[in-house]
Amino acid sequence: MSLSSLPAPRQLFVTTALPYANAAFHVGHIMEYIQADIWVRFQRMQGHEVHFVCADDAHGAPIMIAAEKAGITPQEFVARIAAGRQQHLDGFHIGFDNWHSTDGEENHALSKDIYRRLRDDAKLITTKTIDQYFDPVKNMFLADRYIKGECPKCAAKDQYGDSCEVCGAVYAPTDLKQPYSALSGAVPVMKSSEHYFFRLSDEKCRDYLRGWALDGKLQPEVANKAREWLEGDTGLGDWDISRDAPYFGIEIPDAPGKYFYVWLDAPIGYLASLKNYFAKTGRDFDAFMADPTTEQYHFIGKDITYFHTLFWPAMLHFSGLKVPNNIFVHGFITVSGEKMSKSRGTGISPLRYLELGMNPEWLRYYIAAKLNAKVEDLDFNPDDFVARVNSDLIGKYINIASRAAGFISKKFAGRLSTAWAVEGDTFLDNLRHAGPEVSALLEAREYGKALRAVIHQADLVNAYVDANKPWELAKDPANEQKLHEVCSRLMEAFRILTIYLKPVMPALAANVEALLNIAPLQWADINTPLPDGHVINPYNHLMTRVEPKMLDALFDAPAEVAADSSTTAAEASTAASSNDIEALAPQIGIDDFAKIDLRIALIVDCEAVEGSDKLLRLSLDVGEGRLRNVFSGIKSAYQPQDLVGKLTVMVANLAPRKMKFGISEGMVLAASAADEKSTPGIYILQPWPGATPGMRIR
Ligand code: 2FM
Ligand code: ZN
Repeated sequence: MSLSSLPAPRQLFVTTALPYANAAFHVGHIMEYIQADIWVRFQRMQGHEVHFVCADDAHGAPIMIAAEKAGITPQEFVARIAAGRQQHLDGFHIGFDNWHSTDGEENHALSKDIYRRLRDDAKLITTKTIDQYFDPVKNMFLADRYIKGECPKCAAKDQYGDSCEVCGAVYAPTDLKQPYSALSGAVPVMKSSEHYFFRLSDEKCRDYLRGWALDGKLQPEVANKAREWLEGDTGLGDWDISRDAPYFGIEIPDAPGKYFYVWLDAPIGYLASLKNYFAKTGRDFDAFMADPTTEQYHFIGKDITYFHTLFWPAMLHFSGLKVPNNIFVHGFITVSGEKMSKSRGTGISPLRYLELGMNPEWLRYYIAAKLNAKVEDLDFNPDDFVARVNSDLIGKYINIASRAAGFISKKFAGRLSTAWAVEGDTFLDNLRHAGPEVSALLEAREYGKALRAVIHQADLVNAYVDANKPWELAKDPANEQKLHEVCSRLMEAFRILTIYLKPVMPALAANVEALLNIAPLQWADINTPLPDGHVINPYNHLMTRVEPKMLDALFDAPAEVAADSSTTAAEASTAASSNDIEALAPQIGIDDFAKIDLRIALIVDCEAVEGSDKLLRLSLDVGEGRLRNVFSGIKSAYQPQDLVGKLTVMVANLAPRKMKFGISEGMVLAASAADEKSTPGIYILQPWPGATPGMRIR
């Protein structure tokens, strides 16, 4: 293809949904990020310019209440959650360009600006006085989920304000009998308050949204939903966009004590994160968003379709801003057919996956293999996972390189030969001809079909391997030229397959690029074979197989036995002393000390160990590119969430120790008095600011 016939590079702005900053990621988040990341990497390989951003969704009553419970400010609470994000993203090779927060200054300014445009230019803001339950002890209005009482239908106790978990009845909070505040236990009182509304009921909103949502761009299931919402008898209702103080959010201009409902400022956080990123990288945000060629896409889960196909385009359009080109909606992830539930232990913890040393690109491959462009749930099935990774990915794709590269290194000093290809090469040409199909499927987010097409090509290559048997050719020196031809052809086939798979498995592709001794592969490189005489590097194992026992470990519920003992220095300290401090241990030399490798560790995650009253389980990053699992007997002194995001000190070269709850891969240091009973308290160590994970303490 000549340069002039290449399609013009597109300029794309891509996001995933912004996760609430009240918990660590679960596998559902990781699935969405992997889906979007594959698409972004594919677009970049096509030469397009992509800006891929996300942020924490920081505002709202639940976060405010959780922070209050933890005795910290909402800002501190959000910062702690944010501190654990990068570990997951790096762990699964998710390459956002920027991670920001909806509490950032850009979002405050953009939200107020959009609101003013909606109010002053579009005349779409109105106020109404509404009656709502109010907690007289907490002095706040109560959202439905914070009101409990007896079900008006079946009289079940302690049901939430919107529906009964026992009989399934749906009702208004005012229908509950014996209502009480879930926050304080107080009996709520009815109180009125002025609320701000976005007048979605205005005909111009419905007219605009019909055009935007029903023009054929949305997935059919999504368009059907939008049609129901837009064409239903009741039409669109006005949207209540304000909440009364106390509320963690953005104050509404000219309305003291009123805050934007979290769902008003959350999607504006997409723009805020991009703006923050552009400011850091010296780009012009306003010009980019005003450019009609800029395309904007949001990957989201099916539960938040309403917000993204009605509220969000309406907010943008009527404030004179660019509207999304499309919203890509996916289903939920289930595990062996069941919806995830942490308490039942069927969920997959993303950190546990990484801690077990499982390859993140196995999961990327598996998720991609099961994803399509529909709004269907995706089932993680352990046996299927093992089969697809081991049989398809390793058995069919990796296998090609492992059978050919060794001969190229050993017999031909790493040199490839294309002497045989003067007339072109039908076998490789057929493989290249799969490119447009694979690329169209990736563009359409039909990843499962794309991978099936690639694996079908790998099958054809393997048939070539079996027909030519390089290991047999290698036995007779008379076949040397043929062996060179076969193995060179196979390496070229492997290179082409790697291009097809690179958006899904970028780290694996980088290792293949190192093996092939080439620059990062782009999509157009399909048609540029490696030249005659090109020298590749010696073959190193590219990917190991999944061991089924890893899946057992991934799904193991915590053992229901008591802790055997703690792993902290605090608990190891036994010598009681009648002096003020514990007696000093015998003197040691510097060599003795040097044997202990103490490292700065970031506490990426921390949780109580079910069944143990002493232990916390810590996930520690000591800069090794993996996480360590460490049990520590500090439960009496620390709340898990208070430790997440903090730095501490660990013994990094202690032999791993098998405990009843799993393997402890090190020890966290903590100070305590020799006799903890008379002088209670355990204090873990925190380094001086500036220390970073992995630094050695000497
Ligand atoms: O449902 C959620 O998890 C929300 N935090 C998603 C927000 S997406 C966007 F609008 F910010
Ligand atoms: Zn009921």
